[in-house]
Amino acid sequence: MRLFTFLASATLVVGLGSLPGAAPAPARGADKAPAPVPVPTSMHDFMEGVFQGPYRRLKVVMAAEPKDNAGWKAIRGEALILAEGGNLLLFRKPEKDADEWTKYSVASRDAGADLFKAAKAKDFPAAKKSYEAMLGQCNACHKKFDNGKNQLVP
Ligand code: HEC
Repeated sequence: MRLFTFLASATLVVGLGSLPGAAPAPARGADKAPAPVPVPTSMHDFMEGVFQGPYRRLKVVMAAEPKDNAGWKAIRGEALILAEGGNLLLFRKPEKDADEWTKYSVASRDAGADLFKAAKAKDFPAAKKSYEAMLGQCNACHKKFDNGKNQLVP
């Protein structure tokens, strides 16, 4: 009898667990997922290694409206790298004026995301606007944190 009660409630629990809308069991070890850890570099090496290449390539492909899908694809790719680069900058805040660093990183990332979106829609005027807005944010950060050097032009 007691075995029957046990089996009945076990069936009930298992049954309820599989009802649609029931919360899924948390993935095992999910709370132990490693946090991102920046690779040790100077900011100079970081900008040169992560931002410079996409910026130079983007400048070439943004010079005129792409005539084919390959051109749009190139804009999308470089825009995405620079936008995600803005996220990476958030792991590299300086001790001084971290709030300003965050502000420029986020604005640069968001303008890069807008550029990606415009390229996805193959909208060149919108792409140009976001591209220039993004460079404005790169430059604002360079003005503050790089003694006004590296003022990038579209
Ligand atoms: C949050 C601040 C910040 C943002 C945003 C930022 N940069 Fe920089 N960048 C720096 C700093 C600081 C340096 C100077 C590093 C050094 O030489 O010490 C730099 C330097 C550079 C350099 C020169 C690298 C070299 O080899 O001398 C390039 C190119 C560059 N950034 C591109 C970009 C581009 C493109 C963007 C926008 C998409 C951008 N950066 C956004 C902080 C920023």
